[in-house]
Amino acid sequence: MELVSSRKILKDAVKGNYAIAAFNVHNMETLKAVIKGAVEMDTPVIIQTSQSTVKYAGIEYLVALVGTAAKLSSVPVVLHLDHCTDWELAKKCIDAGYTSIMVDGSMLSYEENVALVKKAVEYAHLRDVTVEAELGRVAGVEDDLSVEEEKSLYTDPDLAVDFVEKTGVDSLAIAIGTAHGVYKGEPKLDYERLSAIRRKVDVPLVLHGASCVPDESIIKAVELGINKINIATELKMPFADAIKRVFKEKPQEDDPRKYFTPAMDAVTEVVKHKIGLCSSAGKASLYR
Ligand code: 13P
Repeated sequence: MELVSSRKILKDAVKGNYAIAAFNVHNMETLKAVIKGAVEMDTPVIIQTSQSTVKYAGIEYLVALVGTAAKLSSVPVVLHLDHCTDWELAKKCIDAGYTSIMVDGSMLSYEENVALVKKAVEYAHLRDVTVEAELGRVAGVEDDLSVEEEKSLYTDPDLAVDFVEKTGVDSLAIAIGTAHGVYKGEPKLDYERLSAIRRKVDVPLVLHGASCVPDESIIKAVELGINKINIATELKMPFADAIKRVFKEKPQEDDPRKYFTPAMDAVTEVVKHKIGLCSSAGKASLYR
């Protein structure tokens, strides 16, 4: 299949009350491991790269890699730019072939966030690209972006209505108690707030910082209306751990295939587990 935007697969997720899992990848190995998991679960998948991964790997490499993965796979694949604070970079990604972007104006004033997202929607929709935005502020560290706990801000349900109306955004990332990265204690999600937002807006809702959130909490969040869950940290950790294990046993190992293969297998296992929590297994058949 060709790369697709997230429009149809997320709208279908709203209708069917399930979520599509989105995974941050950094290289060919993590990409192939995620695609393998999605194909085995037969679900649409969102491959996302942060802006620092774009700088690390290069837009053209990423578009070519993920475009090839999409062509070879039996499930719909979206290439999404995660947490972009640099509008010029977002435009370059759209022009190069990304099919979905997130413009992150969560550190701006409300009016500035609205203006940024409106501008992004106008540009992206002309090119059949979907836009995600964040209202409120999710705490934690996501690559080069960091939000201290005191500066985090839960999403206001009434403001969400105004934001969606004014911007025309395709999907909305909401802050309900998750954080990017590793948690100090167990995260407590504000389910009432999630339900209130779900009642008031009909766009797909996105849960950032879904790594290390207990399975029951993810399942409940999906039941209450989350349609996209974002996983980055929980892929990075098993990938690195598997490589460390190889080098602990064989410090002289110098064949990348020998230390990347167990790392890829570890990522695929997590991917399949997270997709299971989203209730989206088998949904790729809707698109064939
Ligand atoms: P985690 O790193 O906590 O999985 O968060 C991922 C995320 O929300 C990416 O946008």
